[in-house]
Amino acid sequence: MANKQSRQIVRLDVNGATHEVAVRPQDTLALALRDGCGLTGTKIGCDLGTCGCCTVLANGRPILACLTLALEAEGQQLETIEGLTGAERLHPVQQAFATCGGSQCGYCTPGFVMTSVALLRRNEAPTRDEIKSAIAGNLCRCTGYAKIVEAVETAAADMRNA
Ligand code: FES
Ligand code: FES
Repeated sequence: MANKQSRQIVRLDVNGATHEVAVRPQDTLALALRDGCGLTGTKIGCDLGTCGCCTVLANGRPILACLTLALEAEGQQLETIEGLTGAERLHPVQQAFATCGGSQCGYCTPGFVMTSVALLRRNEAPTRDEIKSAIAGNLCRCTGYAKIVEAVETAAADMRNA
């Protein structure tokens, strides 16, 4: 059983709010987000750094939360899938994934969406190859990738035209 004294408080800035979470030195950011912050939109697939399900943004850049220690994330501006959705509507990337059939099981989708949001922030009109390259670290076992690439292209167009 974990020793309470082996835990320390880490302050995580997530989606604009500060969460104080008691973590062990070995706890990953993925675990802290899900169990400590209650933000279960970030999924843990492989827990090994190979699937991309746990992708979140740190200071605007995609990182793998399963390979990041919670203690390392202190002081960084973190964004998870929960931070994208407005009060009344989805983020354009989420909407495009839904419209284009880019998501099915939901396990990989938060990671794909976060990776795509980061891409479209730095490149508002990515080519198909740039999209494929950006999402190369995200694996999907359900849809194949054509609909996902189409969703990112659609979101990019929607955001440019907004
Ligand atoms: Fe982090 Fe698979 S759960 S890369
Ligand atoms: Fe991505 Fe199923 S929709 S793994």
